[in-house]
Amino acid sequence: MKPARFAYVRAASPDDALHTLHQAGSDACVLAGGQSLLPMLNMRLARPLVVVDIMHVPEWQRINDDGHALRIDASVRQVSLERHRDLEHRQPLLHAVLPFVGHAQTRSRGTVCGSIAHADPSAELPLVLLALRGTVHLRSRARRRDVRGEAFFAGTMATACAEGEVIAAVSFPTARPGTGYAFREVARRPGDFAIVACAAVAETTGVRLAVGGVAEHPRAIDLPADPAAFADALDAFAWELDARDDMHATAWYRRELVRQIGRDVALKAQADAASATKISARPLRGVGGKKSDQLPSRRVLSRPSSKGKGSPGTTSHTISFTLNNHVVFVEAEPRTLLVDVIRHGLGATGTHVGCEHGVCGACTVQIDGQPARSCITLAVQAEGTEIRTVESLAPEPGRLSVLQACFREHHALQCGFCTPGILMSLDALLHTRPDATENEIRAMLSGHLCRCTGYAPIMRAALAAQQQLRD
Ligand code: FES
Ligand code: FES
Repeated sequence: MKPARFAYVRAASPDDALHTLHQAGSDACVLAGGQSLLPMLNMRLARPLVVVDIMHVPEWQRINDDGHALRIDASVRQVSLERHRDLEHRQPLLHAVLPFVGHAQTRSRGTVCGSIAHADPSAELPLVLLALRGTVHLRSRARRRDVRGEAFFAGTMATACAEGEVIAAVSFPTARPGTGYAFREVARRPGDFAIVACAAVAETTGVRLAVGGVAEHPRAIDLPADPAAFADALDAFAWELDARDDMHATAWYRRELVRQIGRDVALKAQADAASATKISARPLRGVGGKKSDQLPSRRVLSRPSSKGKGSPGTTSHTISFTLNNHVVFVEAEPRTLLVDVIRHGLGATGTHVGCEHGVCGACTVQIDGQPARSCITLAVQAEGTEIRTVESLAPEPGRLSVLQACFREHHALQCGFCTPGILMSLDALLHTRPDATENEIRAMLSGHLCRCTGYAPIMRAALAAQQQLRD
C-alpha cells in the first residue's frame, strides 16, 4: 500500500462533487480515471486529504457533437472517445492522436478531461487542445467559466483551474472543409510520453503548429502558408521554446526534432487540406467491454469528517465486485490498491506487482472486459465492476486456454513474471478484435515490459493463438 491516507468521496452529481471540493479546498483533488493521479499518490508526490471520484456523475458522461464542436464531459474515458462513431471524420486530429495517449491498458480507465487537467508537458491531449483552439469548461460551486486552451496551461502540471474548480467538459472544434490535420511524435516506445510531439492544422491562410515535450507546457505557433518560410520560423520557434537536457534527450536533439517533425507535419497537414482527405493514421481500436463505461451511481464510501476541513477518513469500507465470476466483498481503506486486494486479500496471486506506478504492465487484469492496471486503480473504484485475472483463463483445472497453450508451445514463457499481465491484455484483444493486425497486437504488447525480453516468441504465440481462435 503506497498512498498516504485520504478520504474518498464518490460524487453522485455535479453539485455533490462541487460541494465537496468547495468544502475541502486545497486538501481535495479530483479523481477522473486516475491514471495520472494514482502514480502520484503511490509515490506520495501528491498527498490529498480528500479524493473526489467524479466517474459516476451521470451528467458528466456524454460526448456531444453540435455540428461545430465535440464537447467531451469530465467523466468520458479516452477509450470511449477513441470508439466514438465517425470520429475519424468529425475530428481527424483527435482520431490520429488517441492511439498515442498512453497504452490501451490506461486509455481504458483514463479520461480526456483528466489528461488535460494533469497538464503533463509531453501529453498529447493538451497538445491537441492547443492546436485546435479548443475550450476548457470549468465549474465551481459559485460559477462557470470557459477558458481557451491557450490560456489554460500555466506551467509544468499547472493550469488555470482554481481551487474548488473542476473541468466539467472540454470542446474541440470539429473538422472544417478545406482544413488539413497531421500529427507525429517521437517517444522511446509507443504509448510513452513524447520526447517531442507535433500537431498541425492547415488552412488556406497558414498552418497552426503545436509542439509538446519541449517547454514547460505545449506551445503553438502560427506559420505562414508558404512552406519556403517554414525553416526560419521553425528555427526561431525551436530556440524560443528553451529546451533543456534531461535523462531522455538533449536540448539540441529536441530542437532538431522540432525543426524536422514540425516541418513534416506542417507539410502533411497542407497536403491533407489540399487533397481534402482526412488523416489516415491507423488507430489501435479500443478493446474489451460489452458493458458501458458508465456505471450506476453508487453509495458514497467515505466522506471527509464534518469536524475540520478535509480530515482523512481512515475507516475501512465494504466493497463488492465480481472476481472471476464470483461476487466478493472486501474491507479496504480508500487508499488500498486494487492489486493488493486481489493478491493479498483474495489470494489471486497470478496477478503480479512490479513498478506500482502503471508502467510495466505486470499487474494487468481485465475490468469490465478491458485490460487495466490494477496498481493504479483503487480498490474502492472497483465497486460494482467485473474483474478477471489470469486464474480465469483456463477452461477447467488441468486444461489451458488456447492462448496459454500457444505461449507454452512457442516458448513465450521465460521467468513468467510478465506473463499473466500479457495474457490478460492479449485475451481482451483477441476476443474483441479477432482480426487485429500484427501491428495492433504489437501496440497492445507495448503496454508490457518483459524483463526477459522474450518479445519474439510472445509475438509468435499471440499470432498462433489468433489463428487458432479464428479457426
Ligand atoms: Fe502495475 Fe507495473 S504497471 S505493477
Ligand atoms: Fe520474464 Fe517476461 S518472461 S519478465
